[in-house]
Amino acid sequence: MAIDAAELRRVLGQFATGVTVVTTRHEGVPQGMTANSFTSVSLDPPLVLFCADKRARSGMLVAAAGCFAINVLAEEQRHLSDLFAGKGTDEQRRALLDEIGQEAVTGAPLLPGTLGWLDCRLDRAIDAGDHVVFFGEVVAAGASGPAAPLLYFRGGYRRLDPV
Ligand SMILES: Cc1cc2nc3c(=O)[nH]c(=O)nc-3n(C[C@H](O)[C@H](O)[C@H](O)COP(=O)(O)O)c2cc1C
Repeated sequence: MAIDAAELRRVLGQFATGVTVVTTRHEGVPQGMTANSFTSVSLDPPLVLFCADKRARSGMLVAAAGCFAINVLAEEQRHLSDLFAGKGTDEQRRALLDEIGQEAVTGAPLLPGTLGWLDCRLDRAIDAGDHVVFFGEVVAAGASGPAAPLLYFRGGYRRLDPV
């Protein structure tokens, strides 16, 4: 018996994650997409991955550009998560990415004020159901400050609470 899609979504939502914005630049045009499917894969060689819905234009542009950067959002960057998750217009997203002007080695834009970033060359893209899994080889990375992370749990944003 196939698993019910709503139940699968509910169960998957029990897994708390951080929130990232995946950025890329193709033929000079910057693009970004909110993603919580980011995962570290390997230290040697240095590999990470994220999964993109086949309908997400960012995935197609990452495939075309051959590179992407992972921007790990801080607690106060919820507005960026919303902007890059479809709440903002394409123009608003591009204006913000053009305005910051900060680029990683690959040319993917880096958002300021994040907890950390990883600049990646596309290693491979694997077709997986209604998503594509993008593996990146990390060519540069940086972490900053003691800020707290933005979290995502049961379909909503959360804050880190010390246990
Ligand atoms: C917290 C959060 C996490 C998300 N994670 C992913 C993800 O990992 N993969 C994905 O394809 N979409 C994810 N989305 C949805 C995309 O951000 C959204 O569909 C976006 O509008 C895609 O933009 P694009 O079509 O311009 O690339 C997430 C949304 C939110 C709010």
